[in-house]
Amino acid sequence: MTTAELTGRTAIVTGASRGIGLAIGQRLAQAGANVVLTSRDQQSADAAAAQVDGNALGVAAHVAEDDAAQRCVDLTLERFGSIDILVNNAGTNPAFGPLIDQDHGRFAKIFDVNLWGPLLWTSCAVKSWMSEHGGAVVNTASIGGMSSAPLMGMYNATKAALIHITKQLALELSPGVRVNAICPGVVRTKLAEVLWQEHEQALSTTTPLGRIGEPVDVADAVAFLVSDAASWITGQTLVIDGGQILGDATGFRAGHSG
Ligand SMILES: NC(=O)c1ccc[n+]([C@@H]2O[C@H](COP(=O)([O-])OP(=O)(O)OC[C@H]3O[C@@H](n4cnc5c(N)ncnc54)[C@H](OP(=O)(O)O)[C@@H]3O)[C@@H](O)[C@H]2O)c1
Repeated sequence: MTTAELTGRTAIVTGASRGIGLAIGQRLAQAGANVVLTSRDQQSADAAAAQVDGNALGVAAHVAEDDAAQRCVDLTLERFGSIDILVNNAGTNPAFGPLIDQDHGRFAKIFDVNLWGPLLWTSCAVKSWMSEHGGAVVNTASIGGMSSAPLMGMYNATKAALIHITKQLALELSPGVRVNAICPGVVRTKLAEVLWQEHEQALSTTTPLGRIGEPVDVADAVAFLVSDAASWITGQTLVIDGGQILGDATGFRAGHSG
């Protein structure tokens, strides 16, 4: 994709201290947007902002805390004067393992961060700015929200619910605010280390497009979804996974060459 033109717009990206969120912040800034990057830790948020080429502000905010979300929205409006784009990207997985081994603490934490977070930040951004001026929201879900995988049941349930909430919000906030979701496959980040670090070669072999994802692969898709090029797209879920959700490509390739 070529550069999407976002000059003069302002984006908040939650969970942007590293990985996919940082890449999204960098990509939106490259397209001309002012960006606000959040982390639970102010130093990490500042360090992320320093890695962005453009106007960037780092803000400490736990994504599931009401006061922190509203404070970040207020700071963004004070500093940049608008909130045109919200990327609900912060995510966590403290519940790796079989569903029947989970406890209420892990259930509450993962649903708080992965589901309440996007709802809370969308609500703050819409009530403080987007309801009057319009905007674009992107929720970072996962291909796990569309399929099942061993030991990922709780995490995948949060992402399935996030896809549903994306559609509901797209209807409730129409026509002024577009709301879409992205579903990355396995991407080279800290969160997903358990899925790729010791299996990269095998995973690359089975993935139709021959490699695991890089954060920039996801960032490019987000830049499209928040731009005017996507102005008639809402309530949709864009899979960015090199074809992983299609299944193991090796047998197909063998059949093709034979
Ligand atoms: N990597 C993949 O393969 C993959 C695939 C599908 C979907 N995803 C989704 O992509 C998103 C980004 O994940 P990533 O892979 O880039 O992971 P990552 O590199 O580990 O980054 C996670 C980010 O979320 C932030 N975060 C975590 N808990 C938070 C909280 N309670 N409040 C605020 N921020 C919080 C972290 O910030 P601090 O630690 O600095 O606070 C960090 O910036 C997540 O929603 C994840 O579920 C990832």
